[in-house]
Amino acid sequence: MTIEVVPTSPAIGAEVRSVDIAAGVDEPTFGRIIAAWHQYSVLLFRGQRLDDAALVRFSRRFGELDAVPPNEVAKIFIKDYPEISVISNVKGTDGKPIGSLGAYESEWHTDMSFMDVPPKASALYSLEVPPSGGNTGFANMYLALERLPADLRRQIEGKVTVHDATLTSVGSLRMGFQPVTDVTRTPGARHPLVRTHPETGRQALYLGRRRNSYVVGLTVAESEALLNALWAHASRPEFSWHHQWRVGDLVLWDNRSAMHRRDAFDPAARRVMHRTQIKGTVPF
Ligand code: OGA
Ligand code: MN
Repeated sequence: MTIEVVPTSPAIGAEVRSVDIAAGVDEPTFGRIIAAWHQYSVLLFRGQRLDDAALVRFSRRFGELDAVPPNEVAKIFIKDYPEISVISNVKGTDGKPIGSLGAYESEWHTDMSFMDVPPKASALYSLEVPPSGGNTGFANMYLALERLPADLRRQIEGKVTVHDATLTSVGSLRMGFQPVTDVTRTPGARHPLVRTHPETGRQALYLGRRRNSYVVGLTVAESEALLNALWAHASRPEFSWHHQWRVGDLVLWDNRSAMHRRDAFDPAARRVMHRTQIKGTVPF
């Protein structure tokens, strides 16, 4: 199988062409896909026809899958596929959402960094997309670190932050959590602000998410000022690419080197995505 790898932007991402994932991907081709993923952090495969079994099968080649993570909607979304999350604003016949995140804007984040062992990757496959809105942005955190002003780089040396476990990326409270009133007591894992990618060996800025974040050892005012400066830098447009979805797109991102976000969309439109998450290792 001969694949083509075409960058989607100067900053991050590549489209992988001439792959029919459902038909099966041989080992040499898969090796080239992994190499492209390490180079570009985010891969886009268009025009796929994946049922849940095929999505799980392909995702598993990147590593062991997580069960559905804690969310605001359900413990398990699809009976026979406990590894698949549904990301959707659509409501079922019972009037309850069939998936997470609604039609809201989701702020820049990396997935599940509130866990001690956060997932290395997430894959999102589109079944229904709205006519406009709901684009997903990706930002290159290798590049953000490389371009970080020297004074900020010095300030984050050896620093660790708390990654909030209480809120989803659209700001809704996860089941079983209380709202945070003092960020020094935010529940969630602690990870280094600069992390080393275990496979590429490159260093990346590791911010997780902004809400309820806290730089351990600083006063709240110092921590807020440092985080504001880091976030203003990391969210500069030249580090990112924004994907406009079509039905049949599979996007796989690396949570160790990329952040992502999603634009809001018309709640009356339908957006349905199936998602898997691949287990990672302890950030260092
Ligand atoms: C996710 C996520 C973005 C989107 O699934 O982790 O952030 O475009 N989704 O729905
Ligand atoms: Mn996410």
